[in-house]
Amino acid sequence: MVQKILQTNAELNDWLSEQNSAIIFIPTMGGLHPGHQYLIEKAKERKTQKNQIILVSIFVNPLQFGKDEDFKKYPRNISKDSELAFNAGADAIWAPNYFEVFPGGENSHFKIQVPQTLNNQLCGAERAGHFDGVATVIIRLIRIIRPEKLILGEKDWQQLIIIRKLFQELSIAIKIESYSTKRDQSGFAYSSRNSYLSDSERVNAQSLPNTLKEAKTDFEKEKVINLTKIASKLKENSLKIEYLKIVDPFSLKEIENLDGICLLAAAVKCGSTRLIDHTFLMQRKPIIAIDGPAGAGKSTVTKAFAQKLGLIYLDTGAMYRAVTWLIISNSIAPNDQAAIENILKDSNLEFKNSSFIEQKIFINNIDVTKKIRSPEVTSMVSEIAKQQFVRELLTRQQKAIGKDGGLVAEGRDIGTAVFPDADVKVFLTASPTERAKRRALDLNKRGFEFSSIEDLEQEIKERDKKDSEREIAPLKKAQDAIELVTDGMNIEEVLEELTYIFRSKIPEEVWAYPTL
Ligand code: CDP
Repeated sequence: MVQKILQTNAELNDWLSEQNSAIIFIPTMGGLHPGHQYLIEKAKERKTQKNQIILVSIFVNPLQFGKDEDFKKYPRNISKDSELAFNAGADAIWAPNYFEVFPGGENSHFKIQVPQTLNNQLCGAERAGHFDGVATVIIRLIRIIRPEKLILGEKDWQQLIIIRKLFQELSIAIKIESYSTKRDQSGFAYSSRNSYLSDSERVNAQSLPNTLKEAKTDFEKEKVINLTKIASKLKENSLKIEYLKIVDPFSLKEIENLDGICLLAAAVKCGSTRLIDHTFLMQRKPIIAIDGPAGAGKSTVTKAFAQKLGLIYLDTGAMYRAVTWLIISNSIAPNDQAAIENILKDSNLEFKNSSFIEQKIFINNIDVTKKIRSPEVTSMVSEIAKQQFVRELLTRQQKAIGKDGGLVAEGRDIGTAVFPDADVKVFLTASPTERAKRRALDLNKRGFEFSSIEDLEQEIKERDKKDSEREIAPLKKAQDAIELVTDGMNIEEVLEELTYIFRSKIPEEVWAYPTL
């Protein structure tokens, strides 16, 4: 494809209609650096279909500059920017002038107002009107371009959160993907504004990333953050602090309880240059809870998802099935609680060979991986799983497996009872008919017999009913879970959607995918 630099809307529209492709859009203000390069490279790497193309816009948006800010001197060098963008994988660049984006001029277009709760924090509190200007131009740009996906950097975290909220509220179905802040070898975040720094200012500015990094290291050891200590280090290096705060990364509100993912964010003035930087703090690795009814395809996708993220896979259903198998094989009646307690209290349940594909489950050193999938176990498991002793025993074991985080757990009560503080909660479901079809395929593959799909559907409905109506930890969507209905979706599509949900909750800066 010929790489194009487009300027007018007419040129853009001609080009768009020639392509007939889905646009991956990366909006920039130019002054491109390795941070932008990374976003473009990621966009290229994540192209999932042949007909996607990457469009980078370069537009220095006057609406997002305050009247004493640097609109006039903001770096503009279209030939250097184009070279970088094309080398990184852009298919076209759109560099419109002001009137292409705002045809009627300043006083004739709608302006978006960012909600106070998000605007009055961090940079918004310092830069009146800045995020309103960002939101206004983004709406304009996406109306003109109509992209399928928007790629943004995590460097401007508040901007990312505001645009996500904007799209969510206006039901704009464009996906937003975000990627990490890129840093030079010294850890200094790339920014177009770095070019304003003199050599001596650049030396002082280094204390911004250094201090944040040190604070993160201290936090990992001591679980506390000393903002006063951070502030005095910044001041020692002649940096004037505009803000230095620990906030919830999504509400942007200041927080004191540092249990979940926290954002330690700072803005400083170094001479006349304003610099922002941040780091995420987290006490443990992420926990992802995937709950849902029987046969929703949880196992297949959860396993693949855990593998993709490089996290442990925990199949809690297999644990309930294993104890059920033990009870059946000892000829204990499902209502004989005393006998059940007696056999389970000294039993030993373990997962072995935690390679994701070949995970095996053992009870009392017997490999029951295959046996627990039998129709006999399936038909009794819900009866066993509703018992208080069984639930307490297995929940305790599950919590122990997840105490340092770093796992994707599937079940019925993961987001509600086992890991209510999970960072990502998904409720995966599908219609009973679809689930029965999937269960039939699965049983066929495993070599088990069944009478008919209708019977399977009936069995699934009964199990759902038992699981949902039991007293302790029933199957239900956690209030903060995202429901994903998977009818008509194949495994790759479900995985793609899970990845998207994951990334909207866990920044790449917190958990990057391992290189497999
Ligand atoms: O059959 P399917 O793969 O959908 O279910 P499973 O995940 O193997 O779970 C089998 C049964 O274990 C469920 O029907 C529940 O009765 C029980 N279970 C539970 O009570 N709590 C969990 N966290 C997981 C499973």
